[in-house]
Amino acid sequence: NELGLVAVGFSGGQCKPGVDAAPMALIESGLVEQLRDDLEYAIHYDGQVHAYTELMPAADPDHRGMKNPRAVSAVTEQLSKQVYAHAKEGRFVLTLGGDHSIAIGTISGTAKAIRERLGPGREMAVIWVDAHADINTPETSESGNIHGMPVAFLTGLAREKAGEPFGWIGEDQRVSVKKLVYIGLRDVDRGEKKILREHGIKAFSMHDVDRHGIGKVMDMALGWIGRDTPIHLSFDIDALDPMWAPSTGTAVRGGLTLREGDFIAECVHETGSLVALDLVEVNPSLEEQGAAETVRAGVSIVRCALGDTLL
Ligand code: ARG
Ligand code: MN
Ligand code: MN
Ligand code: MN
Repeated sequence: NELGLVAVGFSGGQCKPGVDAAPMALIESGLVEQLRDDLEYAIHYDGQVHAYTELMPAADPDHRGMKNPRAVSAVTEQLSKQVYAHAKEGRFVLTLGGDHSIAIGTISGTAKAIRERLGPGREMAVIWVDAHADINTPETSESGNIHGMPVAFLTGLAREKAGEPFGWIGEDQRVSVKKLVYIGLRDVDRGEKKILREHGIKAFSMHDVDRHGIGKVMDMALGWIGRDTPIHLSFDIDALDPMWAPSTGTAVRGGLTLREGDFIAECVHETGSLVALDLVEVNPSLEEQGAAETVRAGVSIVRCALGDTLL
């Protein structure tokens, strides 16, 4: 099994420093060796945590209320090419973030490669595991933080002209709202609720997890996607309850247990259709006590998604 690993030390999609240190913390805790030795992946990794400092613009004033628009656009455009290059070779792509704005790069990269693989009329699905929907447009966002907007740009609900930030995103790099499934939501902004409703986007909130249990929720989520559809899993560590993952920038109580998070990853792995995984929003600098635990939770999610089993 071939695996392309991209380490993205980028924090410009939000305001708290430290999330850029997550890839190193995850790697230092032995993640790469575990994937290679326990799960037998052949790993393609350039050995760097990319900070993309060479891409940082001299000046980056707000654009449509977005903070750091040129920096986030330049980084995600470059990341998109890196992810595409791995996916095109048929490799599973594991991206370690960074804040969730980097999903603009990862998902656009896999969407393009998978489209080419599947041929006309077919596309991959995205499972977005998160406390947040991250589907604000620049206009509905109350924060201006782009990590709250990636899904809007990826689905084309937010668009820019060529030459403007995110104007590089083409039709072949987008995903349709019908191929998107959320799990774990519990802090969705008013404008985002409207978007989810108006576009009939499939979403399983914590209410649904409480009502049906995670087993049934996964059956329904995967049933919506259907068999033989490649899946990109974008996992925001803040989907987990702060009890298990306290060291993250926008923690929200009432989340998934550690086992529910791992179970989601295990179920998606079992489909045999997983083509890419993002692990984002681990911020080891926020909690002195909780940082190690949060990193450990992240490692566990990745291992489960890549085929680790309890027995
Ligand atoms: N909805 C809020 C916003 O737009 C929070 C987003 C949090 N996103 C995340 N990737 N942690 O700013
Ligand atoms: Mn989140
Ligand atoms: Mn909110
Ligand atoms: Mn997120």
